[in-house]
Amino acid sequence: MTAPQKWTAPRIRALKDKGKFATLTAYDFFTARVLDDLGLPLLLVGDSLGMTVLGYESTLPVTLDDMLHHTTAVARGVKSAMVIADLPFLTYQVSIAQAIDNAGRCIKEAGADGVKIEGGKIRAPVIRELVENGIPVLGHIGLLPQSVRATGGYKVQGKTESDAARLIEDARALAEAGAFALVLEGMPAEVAGEITSAVDIPTIGIGAGPKCDGQILVINDLLGMTPGHTPKFVKRYAELGAAMRAAIGAYKSDVEGGSFPGPEHCY
Ligand code: KIV
Repeated sequence: MTAPQKWTAPRIRALKDKGKFATLTAYDFFTARVLDDLGLPLLLVGDSLGMTVLGYESTLPVTLDDMLHHTTAVARGVKSAMVIADLPFLTYQVSIAQAIDNAGRCIKEAGADGVKIEGGKIRAPVIRELVENGIPVLGHIGLLPQSVRATGGYKVQGKTESDAARLIEDARALAEAGAFALVLEGMPAEVAGEITSAVDIPTIGIGAGPKCDGQILVINDLLGMTPGHTPKFVKRYAELGAAMRAAIGAYKSDVEGGSFPGPEHCY
């Protein structure tokens, strides 16, 4: 049997206008293996791991070391998917040299195939430098979780005509700078559709409606493993949080009642 072909930036780029594709976040080895086996072309080690795995209230405290640690685990689980490491808050904004250094560590030390950075046309120069230095970049515009202090909350973007025009301009600038694809987060479906028509690279939507080329969700949301409120754009395909509670509760009562381990579990 031949090994599945590795997904690369040019191959993802070539998905533009070829139908819809699904991507997800992943933070650990086992999940990465499952998603890779199922043929997802791109896995994002999102800085959302700050909330889903590390229990922070936002992505702001996530460090580059956190990202290297989880990216390494995901890369070990993958044979063909493209693994993208999210550069966390203030690891790429300070200078281009800082961005190249940190993105380079994601590739050299953690086995990432590229990085994602948040922001519109202000990020075009750094994206251009990263790409020219051999580092594929996934852009991310719209609702920017790393800017939550500036925006005052997780707010849908592009709701006015002028803000929608700003997002289209951002998308064009990032595509022109060499991003191989763009995450569109938290914006009206119509605006995401206009952006998708305006750029020649794939758009990957989250809370951005069905007109994007691809979709991404935070895997914990899809699996029902997030406490509290589920955002409107999420579809929960399973209730693994509830299943975990039931399984662990059953184990606890078996142990307490003396029925586990049974004779079949003994040497
Ligand atoms: O950090 C993350 O998981 C992300 C996705 C929501 C796109 O940026």
